Amino acid sequence: MQQALERLDRLYALGGGPGANRVGGTPAEDEACELAAEWMAKAGLEVELDSVGNVVGRLRGSRPELPEVWTGSHLDSVPAGGKYDGALGVVAGLEAVAQAGRCERTLGVVVFRDEERGCNGSRARVAGGSLPGRFVELHVEQGPVLEQAGSPLGVVTGIVGYVRREIVFEGVAGHAGTTPMSVRDDALWRAADFVLHVRDAARAIDGAVATVGRLEVEPGAVNVVPARVRLTVDARAPDAERLDRLLDALGVDAEPRNAPVAMDEAVRAVLRDELERRGLPAPELPSGAGHDAGILASAGVESGMLFVRSLNGGSSHSPAETTSDEDIALAIDVLATTLRRLAA
Ligand code: HGY
Ligand code: MN
Ligand code: MN
Repeated sequence: MQQALERLDRLYALGGGPGANRVGGTPAEDEACELAAEWMAKAGLEVELDSVGNVVGRLRGSRPELPEVWTGSHLDSVPAGGKYDGALGVVAGLEAVAQAGRCERTLGVVVFRDEERGCNGSRARVAGGSLPGRFVELHVEQGPVLEQAGSPLGVVTGIVGYVRREIVFEGVAGHAGTTPMSVRDDALWRAADFVLHVRDAARAIDGAVATVGRLEVEPGAVNVVPARVRLTVDARAPDAERLDRLLDALGVDAEPRNAPVAMDEAVRAVLRDELERRGLPAPELPSGAGHDAGILASAGVESGMLFVRSLNGGSSHSPAETTSDEDIALAIDVLATTLRRLAA
């Protein structure tokens, strides 16, 4: 367990602060993946680096011809992200595979590249690489549910449907001092109205959320009427019907999308049973965050997720993200016995 905590510290220090700064495609993500590959080799795992930089460490099973069972997550982060998002799934996965030991099926620990910018590593792997028969991702909840329930761990039922769009608002540049208000074509006025419309549209649909996370004004000078605004929308809903309603209200294309996806019933049952046999609560909850497990599940891999309680009101994608060492230790133990059962 101490090794896991030290490894989380080392990963957190990459890319400088505040928070985790290992944005996908940057040298800091590369460095994190190189570190993980070293840890895999040190643990005696066979290390595979695929064509897009995903890293897989394997502990060969006694029947290597059987479909493999993987755990793992991502090591990239959002800018100024949290210490545990992604990294915990990789570090805990290494501990759990070591604890599980050699099984019939080969066990794998995977680092998927570039998850935050669109699950690009796991999508590439699904498009053109070998996949496991089963996948279990351990991840901080990134929400308040487990903390409010007083439960250290939880089992994910499914992953939310979500889309991301860039929208451009065109106006006419003008002099801030000499262009009368009556004749302005100010792109930021329209963009500002849209941002509040995004808020209201999501508020009107139960369980929906929508965020304008990035907004760029051009030319961006203090004394120029904005000529263009580029902004991003991240829109999510628990099911297809509500996602459709939200996208329709926003006036954005319904495709491409990340459809809502259910976790595998059999994997969920094993995770629940592992919690119950330890006398732990076994709450089940949906994930409002997207994950690589969703990409694999959508590709037909029997996938499950084990959530570790987020503290601090569930804060995430922020340096305020936190969980407890006790919950991490428990999660590693549950993951190890779950992997053993799935790989037997
Ligand atoms: O944005 C998400 O839901 C995830 O953190 N990539
Ligand atoms: Mn994540
Ligand atoms: Mn994230």
